[in-house]
Amino acid sequence: MSETETLEPPETKDRAAMLMFALVEIRPETHDIKTFVFRPETGALAYQAGQSMTLKLSLDGETVHRTFSLASAPGRDETVAMTIKAHARGRATRFMHERLAVGDRIEARAPRGRFVIAGRNGDHLALVSAGSGASPLMAMLRHLAATAPEADIAWLHAARTPADLLFGAELAELQRRMPNLKVAMLASQPEPGWFGFSGRLNRRLLSVAVPDFGRREVFCCGPAGFMDEARLIHAAEGGRRQPFHVEHFGAVAPAAPLPVPDDAPEAGFSIRFDGKSFSARADETLLQAATRQTVVIPCGCASGMCGTCRVSLVEGEVAMRHEGGLSAEEEAQGFILACSSRPRSDVTIAS
Ligand SMILES: Cc1cc2nc3c(=O)[nH]c(=O)nc-3n(C[C@H](O)[C@H](O)[C@H](O)COP(=O)(O)OP(=O)(O)OC[C@H]3O[C@@H](n4cnc5c(N)ncnc54)[C@H](O)[C@@H]3O)c2cc1C
Ligand code: FES
Repeated sequence: MSETETLEPPETKDRAAMLMFALVEIRPETHDIKTFVFRPETGALAYQAGQSMTLKLSLDGETVHRTFSLASAPGRDETVAMTIKAHARGRATRFMHERLAVGDRIEARAPRGRFVIAGRNGDHLALVSAGSGASPLMAMLRHLAATAPEADIAWLHAARTPADLLFGAELAELQRRMPNLKVAMLASQPEPGWFGFSGRLNRRLLSVAVPDFGRREVFCCGPAGFMDEARLIHAAEGGRRQPFHVEHFGAVAPAAPLPVPDDAPEAGFSIRFDGKSFSARADETLLQAATRQTVVIPCGCASGMCGTCRVSLVEGEVAMRHEGGLSAEEEAQGFILACSSRPRSDVTIAS
């Protein structure tokens, strides 16, 4: 591995600070997926392949935050790219697809996230994606193409129809440059003339597409059910000793309940956040309480995994149980996840 690959994900002192970007290109990928290319106004951005960034968008006067993976590889040029699906009833993604234009300026938080290729054990890898879940994996593959072109990589990418499959031309080009890259495409609704794999992800199909799946370290991104299935197959193929990394794009399960102290006040505790105040009961998370009272705390997965809702605990006490969205170092530095923390006293938090 090169020196840059062994670095921990970049930790800036002020990661909550907003950075300004100019939108320099919009590239259609499929009928409902586009790649947005941004140029940071502060110069090249430090990030690792697989990390994500939270955009601050103004939808007709209302501010919303949405997190998107960076599909670009770090260190290639000064721009960063995000490959984004417009959800049928998605507010932010429809806005981005329909209203954003080249030249627009957008604020975003510095990249973050622990779903990174840099921490891998070796170069015997499987990348498994569905839909726009290909985005962080493409960042990883682009990075490996530049830093470890001999890496032994099997990529299985799934989509509904062949026309929905992402990055086909670039993957074919990368296969010419990366002698040990194997790519398998899976369409759940194939069309006449389709020569790839057909149907839904299952063990038989995966054992043909990636015969040594259980011996590979896996990076997986797609809908929760798809990732659960891939993980079960990996374990069944003997992969229990190989790391299986996942990135969730949406809420998985609400934060697990925690015991509520008998003396917790019924009216809840007082929470101060960046100059705003709201109350939170001992049995609800800071994020749930903030949302109920229309205070915006940026949120991605709402399940303690992505780190989007990270805030500093300035004063007070919380009970926190998360799913890996915060590193031990961040906890030691006094950061908490609003989606996974319940108040145990009056609390002051800051972005
Ligand atoms: C760490 C992380 C990385 C992400 N990276 C990407 C990325 O690279 N590309 C990308 O397109 N998206 C990505 N997402 C998802 C993204 O943040 C948004 O949640 C999603 O695009 C929908 O936003 P919206 O405002 O359009 O939808 P909303 O208005 O929030 O939701 C509208 C409807 O869409 C449904 N919905 C929302 N999100 C999803 C989802 N992910 N899958 C299926 N249905 C959904 C909701 O249930 C709701 O019914 C990522 C999320 C996280 C947490
Ligand atoms: S919103 Fe993802 S960790 Fe809290």
